[in-house]
Amino acid sequence: MLSDYTAHSNCRGVRILDQQALKEQVAAAAVEHVANIYSNKLVLGIGTGSTAECFIRGLVGLRGRIETTVASSERSAVLLAELNIPVTDLNSVSELDAYIDGADEANESLALIKGGGAAHTREKIVAAVAKQFICIADESKWVETLGSFPLPVEVIPMARSYVARELVKLGGQPVWREGVVTDNGNIILDVHGLRITDPCKIETNINQLTGVVSNGLFAHRPADLLLLGTNSGVEERVASA
Ligand code: 5RP
Repeated sequence: MLSDYTAHSNCRGVRILDQQALKEQVAAAAVEHVANIYSNKLVLGIGTGSTAECFIRGLVGLRGRIETTVASSERSAVLLAELNIPVTDLNSVSELDAYIDGADEANESLALIKGGGAAHTREKIVAAVAKQFICIADESKWVETLGSFPLPVEVIPMARSYVARELVKLGGQPVWREGVVTDNGNIILDVHGLRITDPCKIETNINQLTGVVSNGLFAHRPADLLLLGTNSGVEERVASA
């Protein structure tokens, strides 16, 4: 349900939704999607971030259909538990029907940049186990070329300076996200200045640096479906050929 205070009209009287309302709209569409597409009890992977949180809140209405969920962060797990939605460890399930999560950027191949919430390593792991990865995002996240959003890289703390120097050699400008410790006890370097025209190659090259746990490019495992919240409604996008 969209809150009224988040909508206003432009000079032509057209209703404009702000970013939070677009997130709520797309999250509601995702709840409807999982409710309709899967007939049995649901086993869902749950993402991290403000859009994923809207989705989690929307799941309350589906509680009776949910066998269990697996969260990609401690913070999402806490919210699920607070809402009495069953949540379990990934090692207790062999397959997830779907993984639903937001993104910081998405392109037409449905390759993504994620990790704005420092959770991309666990997000990648949960996405890997899911039959379908449904990305939910407002239209500000849609880009032609990935890289305007600084690429998050999770790094073992003692390797921070070494990895930063190597990222400079790859053409980026890494900035340490000071004060942030991931759920895995590591640090984040945000890499600015990358124009990512070959996302698979950059994903591989950065992941090969010793000391890197994982980077926030989801190119080898892109989303299968993108639900994009726009002012004219939720658009369903699949990867262009
Ligand atoms: C967290 C993520 C989020 O999905 C991403 O940052 C988008 O967040 P939001 O929905 O708050 O815009 O990757 O690590």
